[in-house]
Amino acid sequence: MMDMMEAIRARHSVRQYLDRPIPADVRAALDEAAAALNREGGLNMQVIYDEPECFNSRLAHYGKFENARNYISLVGAKAPDLEERCGYYGERVVLTAQALGLNTCWVALTHGKSKAAVAEGKREVIIISLGYGATQGSPRRSKSAADVSNLDAGAPEWFRRGVEAALLAPTAVNQQKFRFDRDGSRVTARAGRFGTQLKVDLGIVKCHFEIGAGRENFTWA
Ligand SMILES: Cc1cc2nc3c(=O)[nH]c(=O)nc-3n(C[C@H](O)[C@H](O)[C@H](O)COP(=O)(O)O)c2cc1C
Repeated sequence: MMDMMEAIRARHSVRQYLDRPIPADVRAALDEAAAALNREGGLNMQVIYDEPECFNSRLAHYGKFENARNYISLVGAKAPDLEERCGYYGERVVLTAQALGLNTCWVALTHGKSKAAVAEGKREVIIISLGYGATQGSPRRSKSAADVSNLDAGAPEWFRRGVEAALLAPTAVNQQKFRFDRDGSRVTARAGRFGTQLKVDLGIVKCHFEIGAGRENFTWA
């Protein structure tokens, strides 16, 4: 299985899928990963298989989704940091799915009603479509390290790799409105002020930064 940095490099959003069902052993691996991430992050993410209705809406077709029959619903108890946790743990499962040979797309808007169980006091923040892609997707425009961080010529290698991994992360409408600032071995990550889904994006890019930089090399400020 590819490691998480390889998964980061291989991943692109994919909205069109093949008719191929996800086999039992792959489901077991995904379900196990989701259960572990739920325990760690205090979430109720649910992997839902063989359910075409959620992506059968007018909005989903308008959003270019085809044959999307599986998805991950990010659900959790209402809390100020819920969206950031959904981003962080959701991206961990996205990269696991990528390593298992699947393709994904984060979807805040262009989907119909999901079949996730959302108990009283909980909220479905966002979903992620899942399946075998008709293609592997393609690279897109990206900001530069200088646009999103205080990276300079004297910066340690781990910071450069962290920012590089963050720039490969998915963000809503590819807005990349985040910033990483290093002070010694302390790193501050901030969401932009104006945009959409900024807190989910922040969780996603922090997940990538940790994988690129190596958790042992720095502390979050
Ligand atoms: C929080 C979030 C919400 C998103 N919502 C949608 C959406 O509603 N519809 C859609 O087609 N893509 C959605 N996307 C996918 C982004 O458009 C995509 O990640 C971005 O353009 C970067 O491309 P990449 O994922 O291939 O790197 C979303 C992505 C994120 C991170």
